[in-house]
Amino acid sequence: MSLYELMRSGRDPIVFATDILGLRLNHAQNRWFKTLVNGEEWAHRYSVHVAANQTGKSLGAAVLLLWACIYKFGVDPSDENRWAEAPYNWFHVAPSQNQAYIALKDIELLVRGAHPSQVNKCRLPAGLVSFTKVDTYYDGLTTYHGAEAQFRTTEEKARALQGRRAHGITFDEAAFEPHLKSVLNEVLSMRLISTGGPLIIVSTPNGINDYYEVVAGIKDRGTLVPDSNGRVWVTDDGQAVVWSTVDDNVGFGLAADEVARQERELDPATKEQQLRGAFLEPGDAFFVPGAAILRAFRSNLPDLVPAKPGRVYIAFWDPSDPMAAYVLDVTARPWKVVQEIWERKPSGFASLMTQMYGIHAERSGAGDPVHGQSVCKTGYDETGMGGKIVAERMAGIYPRQGIDLSGSGKLKADMLGELRARLLSGDLLIPAGYHGLKRELLSYRLNDARIQQDRVMALAGATWLASRGFTGKTHAAFDPSATFARPAFR
Ligand SMILES: Nc1ncnc2c1ncn2[C@@H]1O[C@H](COP(=O)(O)OP(=O)(O)OP(=O)(O)O)[C@@H](O)[C@H]1O
Ligand SMILES: [Mg+2]
Repeated sequence: MSLYELMRSGRDPIVFATDILGLRLNHAQNRWFKTLVNGEEWAHRYSVHVAANQTGKSLGAAVLLLWACIYKFGVDPSDENRWAEAPYNWFHVAPSQNQAYIALKDIELLVRGAHPSQVNKCRLPAGLVSFTKVDTYYDGLTTYHGAEAQFRTTEEKARALQGRRAHGITFDEAAFEPHLKSVLNEVLSMRLISTGGPLIIVSTPNGINDYYEVVAGIKDRGTLVPDSNGRVWVTDDGQAVVWSTVDDNVGFGLAADEVARQERELDPATKEQQLRGAFLEPGDAFFVPGAAILRAFRSNLPDLVPAKPGRVYIAFWDPSDPMAAYVLDVTARPWKVVQEIWERKPSGFASLMTQMYGIHAERSGAGDPVHGQSVCKTGYDETGMGGKIVAERMAGIYPRQGIDLSGSGKLKADMLGELRARLLSGDLLIPAGYHGLKRELLSYRLNDARIQQDRVMALAGATWLASRGFTGKTHAAFDPSATFARPAFR
C-alpha cells in the first residue's frame, strides 16, 4: 500500500491507530471510537466515556485528537484546497494543566514510535506533526495542514477557551472538575456551536457529583445499543454514554495477574469505582440504600404536570442560594412531584415573591364543575427570611406555612427522616428527569455544610407539610376565614 493510500484509509480512527500508529486498540478504546465516529461524520456530538482507572482513557483521547487534527475531521474534504486552508482548532482539557499535558506526552511518544503501547512500527510520515508553543508558553501541536491542538486546564471556568471556536474538545478526568456542569454548559458547549464539533468527555467517576448527573441524564433519555453488551447508550439527539471496565485493558496495557492483585487488595470502599467505573454513594450517605431510593424515580412521570381541577397540591420553597422549590400532587397515594423550580443564582426577594404568588395562584386556580376547584398550600423555609416583613408580603398567599429550621436541628432531622421513609416506602414518586435532585439525594450526608442540598431540603419541606394534611391546627392557623375545608389526605 502506498503512503498515500495508507493515509487515506486512516480516515477511520481505528485503522489510523492500528495501521499508522502501530497500536492495538484495547476493548475500551475500540468501543469508544466506534461510538464516536460514523464513516465521514462524528456520530455523537456529546459523549461521555465512563471508565475504570487504567483503561487507556488518556492514551485513547490522545490518539483521537491526533487523528482528528491530522484529518481535520468534520471539515468537508471534497475540495482539497479549501480543506487545506480551513482553520482547525482542537482543545484538550483537564482539571489541572498537568493532567491536560498527559495526552500531549503520549502524542510526543507516539509520533516518534516510542510509546510503550506501540506493538508495530509507526508509519506516520515525518514532519506531519510538529510541537509548538501556543499563547506564548503553553505546549501544543500543529499539523502540516494547519490544524492546532492546545492542552489546557479547566481552572477558572476554562478561561483559556473563552471566546475561541473549537472544532472538537476532549476532556480528560472530567469527574474531578469541581464546577463540571457550568464548565460544560457555559463554556465548552458554547465553543462548539458554530463548528458542530464534538465534546468528548472521559473520566473515572468520583462519587455522586456533577459527573454523575451528566451521565445519568444521558443514560435516562437514551437507549441501550443492542449489540454493545450493556456498555453503550445513545439518545436520538446525538448524545452517548460508553462504559468500560478494567478488564477491557487486560492483555493490552495491563496484565491479568496485576488486575487479580488489585481485586484482592484494593479498599472495598472504592474498588468498584477504580476497577469498574462505578458511581459510589458516600459511606455515610443518608438516603440509603441508594438502589431503593432510585426506585422512587419514575420514567413515566413528566417533568411538569400543570394544575388540574379538583387536585390538592403542596408547594414548598427553600429560598436559599441556590433556590429550590417543589410542587407535590397529594390528592391520592402515592404522592407525585409535579413541578420543580431550581435557580442556581436566584434573582432576589421580589422575584421570589412573584414566583411564589404565581405558582400558588396557578395551583389553586384550576377548576371545572365536575371536579371542583384545585387547592394549594404553600410552605417555605423562613430561616433566612426577614420574619415579620416577609409574612406581610405573603399575606395574599394562603393557606401558607413558614418553617423555621434555625433551632436545634431536630426538626430538620425529622423532616429528612420523613422524606427518607416516604421514598423507601414508595409513597412519593419523582419524575426520572430530575437528575439534580437524584444526585443530591444520593450524595446527601447529614452534617456536611459543603454539599449542595437545597433540592433535598425543599422536597423534605414539601413532604413534611403534606404529611400534616390541610386540616388540623396548622391549617387553621393560617386560614382564619375557615372556608378552606378539605378532607385530610393522610
Ligand atoms: N491499547 C493499548 N495497548 C497497550 N497498552 C495500552 C493501551 N491503552 C493503554 N495502554 C497502557 O495502559 C496504561 C494506562 O493507560 P492510560 O494512562 O491511557 O489509562 P487511563 O485510563 O487514562 O489511566 P488513569 O486512570 O490512570 O488516568 C498505560 O501504561 C498505557 O500505555
Ligand atoms: Mg488518564
